[in-house]
Amino acid sequence: MSQQLEQVKSLIELREKARLGGGQKRIDSQHQKGKYTARERIAMLLDEGSFEEFDMFVTHRCTNFEMEKKTFLGDGVVTGYGTIYGRLVYVFAQDFTVFGGSLSESFAMKICKVMDQAMKMGAPVIGLNDSGGARIQEGVNALAGYAEIFQRNILASGVVPQISAIFGPCAGGAVYSPALTDFNIMAKGTSYMFLTGPKVVKTVTGEDVSQEELGGASVHASKSGVAHFAVDSEEEGIQVIRELLGYIPQNNLEEAPIVPTDDPIDRLEDSLNEIIPDNPNKPYDMYEVIGAIIDDGKFLEVHKDYARNIIVGFARFNGISVGIVANQPKYLAGVLDNNSSRKAARFVRFCDAFNIPLVTLVDVPGFLPGTQQEYGGIILHGAKLLYAYGEATVPKVTVTLRKSYGGAYCVMSSKHLRGDINYAWPTAEIAVMGPSGAIEVLYGKEMAAAADPAAFAAEKEKEYRDAFANPYNAAKYGYIDDVIEPRNTRFRIIRALQQLANKKLTNPAKKHDNLPL
Ligand code: HXC
Repeated sequence: MSQQLEQVKSLIELREKARLGGGQKRIDSQHQKGKYTARERIAMLLDEGSFEEFDMFVTHRCTNFEMEKKTFLGDGVVTGYGTIYGRLVYVFAQDFTVFGGSLSESFAMKICKVMDQAMKMGAPVIGLNDSGGARIQEGVNALAGYAEIFQRNILASGVVPQISAIFGPCAGGAVYSPALTDFNIMAKGTSYMFLTGPKVVKTVTGEDVSQEELGGASVHASKSGVAHFAVDSEEEGIQVIRELLGYIPQNNLEEAPIVPTDDPIDRLEDSLNEIIPDNPNKPYDMYEVIGAIIDDGKFLEVHKDYARNIIVGFARFNGISVGIVANQPKYLAGVLDNNSSRKAARFVRFCDAFNIPLVTLVDVPGFLPGTQQEYGGIILHGAKLLYAYGEATVPKVTVTLRKSYGGAYCVMSSKHLRGDINYAWPTAEIAVMGPSGAIEVLYGKEMAAAADPAAFAAEKEKEYRDAFANPYNAAKYGYIDDVIEPRNTRFRIIRALQQLANKKLTNPAKKHDNLPL
């Protein structure tokens, strides 16, 4: 064999070795836990054959604890680029079979390299996390590595989309990289995220809690809001990433791809003319409205199990990708509270950062009153949503279906927060507050003194309803651009989006804003 052929052979052998990560035994153990390896995950995520790997021969440089005797090619993270539905993405996948996927200085530099490359090329970064955290033997070098990644997450925020999937442990300060990215996807049963594990919790607070209860996918998807998606399997998580990217542009200077549809733009949906119950206190399901008006009923909901009184997610209108924000009357009457305000604000800001138009469907009785909300900071959280809508410069189309009361009227993409097109259904009620509350404030004393307080209240409520329980009062001032037939909502939204396609609006120059955090 020639010298060159031998060198080629040795390269092939080295590659094979690198591909085995921590070795077959550890790969088997990973499979036994119901988890895939880093390379298997990348293969599922990217278009077949599109993956190009970087830094396969990188090893750590640690000499503490005789670490120089233990090295693995690639050092526990697989990095590179490939395509998803033909579009370029950068990816890193932590390899639990090598030192438990723990992060060394070299490991961090590999991640930083793909992040830097993604920024140069204006393409999304996808991180698949499965790691025991900072590599203990490396000490401060591992911490420095994390901080280098955080810095890049921050600079990339709002420039290229960043998506994290958690497919195993993610603990300690390591959680902050996913937290800085745009979307977190967690696999139920096999992933967890927390700052300190159950043992430390027990020592510090005396609380007995399992890993799953402390930081499992369901907890973060429903209680903390850290996870935007909780999925039943890694396959499903990978599918969510692929689908999600389809609604998002490659970077903040591009538009999301248009996806042609056979769904007619002028499709009338008669059921919407009868969806609002006669009794204003009776709910209906906002999902039915969303499903009826979007292309092919296809909706990718974000934060499905968190703050269910507001619905956010991606859909398309005649192929145009939009972010939908909709109050859900079926859950807590669609009220705005701390969690729903934060949830919607984050979503609105994401859409605005990435040029995705906003379609807002309003049926909101106001902000939730009470000490729990006030102590929890409803003033600041509500202000976040207000801020997010007010600063957004993307096309904003709003449809008021029923209630739009008080501060919530102002917040929910109103004309006054630079709403471009504000439509209302004939069933809309736009007022400072609901009728019974208003009558109590205006006529409390007279009502108490009346011979028949109930009859008095009913008469005044009717007077109030006649004045405000309709869209025409707001339309009279031009705050509502048109009152539309509910069954025609899809067509009117599409026309509005077409009209707004070339919208140009910029905010005053500033170093950065001071969002009420
Ligand atoms: C070095 C580590 C490691 C780590 C795991 N390993 N975590 N090596 N540094 N942080 C190694 C193990 O020694 C073991 O090596 C292999 O990875 C697999 O780990 P196991 O414990 O056998 O696996 P499992 O039972 O599944 O438990 C996984 C685990 C556990 C829950 C993640 O390993 C664990 O608790 N690790 C420590 C987690 C932690 O506290 N990390 C620091 C967090 S603080 P062998 O050779 O035996 O296979 C942090 C700070 C970041 O990260 C700050 C950023 C600002």
